[in-house]
Amino acid sequence: MLLAHSTWPEIEARIARSRAIVIPIGSNEQHGPTGLLGTDWMCPEIIAHAAHDKGDLIVGPTFNIGMAQHHLGFPGSISLRPSTMIAALRDWSVSLAGHGFDRIYFLNGHGGNVATIEAAFSEIYSESSWRAERRGFALKLRNWWDLPGVGKLCERLYPQGHGSHATPSEIAVTQFAYPQSIKAANYAPQIAPTGPIREALDFRARYPDGRMGSDPGLATPEAGGQIVALAVDGLIGDMRSFEAEPTP
Ligand code: NI
Repeated sequence: MLLAHSTWPEIEARIARSRAIVIPIGSNEQHGPTGLLGTDWMCPEIIAHAAHDKGDLIVGPTFNIGMAQHHLGFPGSISLRPSTMIAALRDWSVSLAGHGFDRIYFLNGHGGNVATIEAAFSEIYSESSWRAERRGFALKLRNWWDLPGVGKLCERLYPQGHGSHATPSEIAVTQFAYPQSIKAANYAPQIAPTGPIREALDFRARYPDGRMGSDPGLATPEAGGQIVALAVDGLIGDMRSFEAEPTP
């Protein structure tokens, strides 16, 4: 079930039988000349929304703005500072935990979020007042491309030109879900350069069209469908084990 499409009595009843929730989390940032700005929040949302019925999961609203300061040289990118994002993640988590969700699983779509999400977990765990009466509260972070089997499938689909930003696998997932928004461009070079990630002006100078090491021209909606199908099963299995972890 989707939290946003539910009522509070439905959520109250749900918590009585399951205390686990999935929050898709990503970023709104440039994804090269053909990738959608929403790619990094769309991918985890697409997977979680496809999984919720099949896996009897509850999926919360998508946390769709992340830590993307290095993309701010490109129009349409929106970023939270790490400190802002940590504060927001703390408030989301404490709100949900206060109602009884004590297993909160973040399905992430943006590598640049990882350090900040982990810091937020430490920040949340360091508080004790709101969780003193209940042990077993746990937060989990999983990148969608790390779900069981997904990384291997992406390697098989794209042995060359996968890269690390505006990758054909993430573009394929959005093409599968939003075929009406597929874009085309002539990439030059076909496979983008690689290098470090620093501040926004440096990023734009190193990666003029926004891609890193990738050839998004390899993406197809069919491949996106394969990736989503595998990721859905991975997410359902991952949530089952997270939910079933015994309270120590
Ligand atoms: Ni991305």
